[in-house]
Amino acid sequence: MAMDAEKLKLGFIGAGSLARSLSAALARKGFTVTAVASRSLASARIIETGITDCRAFASLQEAAGSCDLVFITTPDSAIAEVASKVEWRPGQMVVHTSGADSADLLKPAADMGAATGVFHPLQTLTGTGRSGNPFRGITITIEGAKPLLDVLCRIAERLEADPLELKPEARVLYHASAVIASNYLTALASLACRLWQEFGYRPERALQSLLPLMRGAVTNLEQTGLPECLTGPISRGDIATINRHLQALDETFPLHAGVYRSLGLATLDIARQKECLLPGRAGEIEHILTDKENHHANNHAEK
Ligand SMILES: NC(=O)c1ccc[n+]([C@@H]2O[C@H](COP(=O)([O-])OP(=O)(O)OC[C@H]3O[C@@H](n4cnc5c(N)ncnc54)[C@H](OP(=O)(O)O)[C@@H]3O)[C@@H](O)[C@H]2O)c1
Repeated sequence: MAMDAEKLKLGFIGAGSLARSLSAALARKGFTVTAVASRSLASARIIETGITDCRAFASLQEAAGSCDLVFITTPDSAIAEVASKVEWRPGQMVVHTSGADSADLLKPAADMGAATGVFHPLQTLTGTGRSGNPFRGITITIEGAKPLLDVLCRIAERLEADPLELKPEARVLYHASAVIASNYLTALASLACRLWQEFGYRPERALQSLLPLMRGAVTNLEQTGLPECLTGPISRGDIATINRHLQALDETFPLHAGVYRSLGLATLDIARQKECLLPGRAGEIEHILTDKENHHANNHAEK
């Protein structure tokens, strides 16, 4: 018989950013969040204060013991340790929320008879802003055997998220993809802002001007899609401009020059798919973008 997710007693071990966002959203959707414990009682109390009938425990065991489904929401490095510290009941459900690890990390709990799984919201959550629903429209990747998988699916759906089952072996590439899409976007913004200092503007001012451009690119991705949304000198085959960029970056910003070349090649792939370049132009651009790399490689080899 299907388990009624709304009737389960839910608990959290680890009261940081994700736990704050998730526990508050679950409570708002009518789920029963009954227990929370963390490394410090003070953090657990922050969650307790915001949710009626939720109790903060000093003991991880007591918090876990009082729940049907426990979310381990510690940093990734503490998940296995927490899973092995607690005595789990057979049939109890325990999931972690890490993107990079499979449910294997919870083997100590599985060995005690608990049903183990993963519930990873593909979003960056700060734990602030308790109103609104930060899970609406996002993907939550889930892993586990039935009936736990159905429970996780139901929870994701009630949060208005899109549940997606992921096999354990897919986790590493999946998480690498998330890092590229999120953290590297941040890194790209930082690199772009750094160049503005060269012509006299502070990074804050640069970001203010670059953000609408970045938002525009994301909107185009969303509305027009790949590869058609690509614009810029590579998509136009503007070789003189690309050369001038590289010359300027090579002189002063080796890190920027390397990133420009690597991502230039990725951009060229999109331009090829879009079939927007004149015959022979893609090969010329590829030559410009790889030429310096080869030169660097030769230099390294000689050292
Ligand atoms: N934040 C996100 O955007 C996000 C998104 C998706 C997935 N995740 C995943 O969610 C998990 C939590 O991430 P987070 O960003 O919420 O981390 P975080 O803000 O650093 O919070 C981690 C919490 O765990 C507690 N803790 C640390 N070691 C512990 C231990 N040994 N026993 C019990 N509690 C312990 C901390 O303690 P005290 O506060 O009590 O000192 C803190 O409250 C990670 O697996 C992460 O990969 C996070």
